[in-house]
Amino acid sequence: MGSNIIINKEIEKYINDHSLKLNSIQEEIILYNEGLGEIKKMQIAVTQCHFLHLIIKISKIKKILEIGTFTGLSALSMSLAMSDDGRLISLDKNEETNKVALNFFKKAQQNNKIQTIIRPALESLKALKEEKEKFELVFIDADKENYKIYYDESLNLINQGGLIIIDNVLWHGEVVDKKKKDKLTTNIREFNSYVNNDKRTENLIIPVGDGLCVCRKL
Ligand SMILES: C[S@@+](CC[C@H](N)C(=O)[O-])C[C@H]1O[C@@H](n2cnc3c(N)ncnc32)[C@H](O)[C@@H]1O
Repeated sequence: MGSNIIINKEIEKYINDHSLKLNSIQEEIILYNEGLGEIKKMQIAVTQCHFLHLIIKISKIKKILEIGTFTGLSALSMSLAMSDDGRLISLDKNEETNKVALNFFKKAQQNNKIQTIIRPALESLKALKEEKEKFELVFIDADKENYKIYYDESLNLINQGGLIIIDNVLWHGEVVDKKKKDKLTTNIREFNSYVNNDKRTENLIIPVGDGLCVCRKL
């Protein structure tokens, strides 16, 4: 059996040098986030931008829900992958980062495709369910404590064949470190088992960035 390689910084750079390229506004967001210090790590990895891009292109997705906008890198990456009639709703509770994201969406001429809602995500998800909104893809990248409930609520918002993609499911590799017993790591482990045992979806964890769990509704 072949063994998997460990993706260190050098290999990550090699992958980026030999893969899809970011557009100038995606690069501007990354540069902006670098100036934010520690919290820049909130943004998705460049390889994840490209992975989402390809999934959206291959599946010709036109309606996306995102939970966790931050300064807009993932939302912009997904919006750019959709055709002009595509629509993306992104949820976040932070007004400050939302302002920054909106600015970048406008600069990238994607503001007509992206709508943001500033409210605790659980409230927005309940409102979207009441409005009977449906999406083809839900991307979950917000507070890890609520992952299970976001996943369950997202299942109400997609049809059969729809996708839910969840970020950070490998939690810097700590999911397999038995010494790690903190609440967040435990939450992610329990979440991964919950999804994997869920008969409503089929799933695959992909080691891109901090680990993406891709689920397809059956
Ligand atoms: C990891 S960041 C999202 C990163 C973003 N996807 C990107 O690529 O730049 C998580 C975001 O979730 C938001 N968030 C955390 N808890 C939330 C909640 N209960 N409701 C709505 N947003 C929340 C935070 O404000 C933060 O902007």
